[in-house]
Amino acid sequence: MTTAYLNGSFVPLEEARISPMDRGFLFGDGIYEVIPSYEGRMVGFDRHMQRLNQGLAAIKLGNPLSTDAWKTLLSEVASRNNGDYLGLYLQVTRGAPPIRNHRFPENCPPTLFAYAFDVHEPNDGDPTRATCYRVATTTDRRWRRCDIKSVALLGNVLHMMEGVDTGADEILLFNDQDELTEAAACNVFVVQGDSILTPPLDQEKLPGVTRNMLVDILRHEALPIIETPLTRDAVITADEVWLTSSTKEIAPVVAIDGQIVGDGRPGPIWAKTQALFAANRFSA
Ligand SMILES: Cc1ncc(COP(=O)(O)O)c(C=O)c1O
Repeated sequence: MTTAYLNGSFVPLEEARISPMDRGFLFGDGIYEVIPSYEGRMVGFDRHMQRLNQGLAAIKLGNPLSTDAWKTLLSEVASRNNGDYLGLYLQVTRGAPPIRNHRFPENCPPTLFAYAFDVHEPNDGDPTRATCYRVATTTDRRWRRCDIKSVALLGNVLHMMEGVDTGADEILLFNDQDELTEAAACNVFVVQGDSILTPPLDQEKLPGVTRNMLVDILRHEALPIIETPLTRDAVITADEVWLTSSTKEIAPVVAIDGQIVGDGRPGPIWAKTQALFAANRFSA
């Protein structure tokens, strides 16, 4: 049984109820985060809190809790749920005013929700245990503020289904200039020779916590990491392609639109990099 937190109480997830007037439900008016928790230790907690604050500021919604209060709450969510490897989901919406109106309501308490779900045991760079992805490609048709981790994910959902409908597990998105933005639910890295490349951050992409941790870890190790625009051609001819997200860490892409990447298996730079990430995931 999953235990959830909703507006001050811990309840069985299936008993958690919100109002249909909740602005998260009516407008997608809210921000969320997903934080991994491995054997009771959260990965990238401070970075997730920083992005939560940025997202809430971008939609002009105050953070209802201090960072310490979030830590206490999420630790409690983790400890009330079984499993050594959890994803901790949190969501803050602009609450449930009595009237549906696009304008922000006044004096409306936000809705706070958190729960835990199982994730795979993280990988330390073992290619035999890697979850590999086959991806499709398409034009990024989402809104222009993809840097905000909004709960309004319909654009991402429809892109994901575009991939799934062709038999793929994820989909790479390219903007109108044919430059890679990200994937439906991940950031993207490619390997060309000895160099690891990823697109620079802007409002077309989510500033992924995993992406940013990885960039910092690689820089700290003086490894060649370059933030640069990547054309479709650069991506499909890369030696390796990876997806990054909190629940996947670094995942190898083995095919793009049915074309094999490298030799169709997790590459050697992936193995080294995932091992490096594993060694630094609690300190980066
Ligand atoms: C669109 C999108 N990009 C990137 C990411 C990766 O972000 P993070 O590493 O913070 O999980 C996610 C994660 O859910 C996402 O939904």
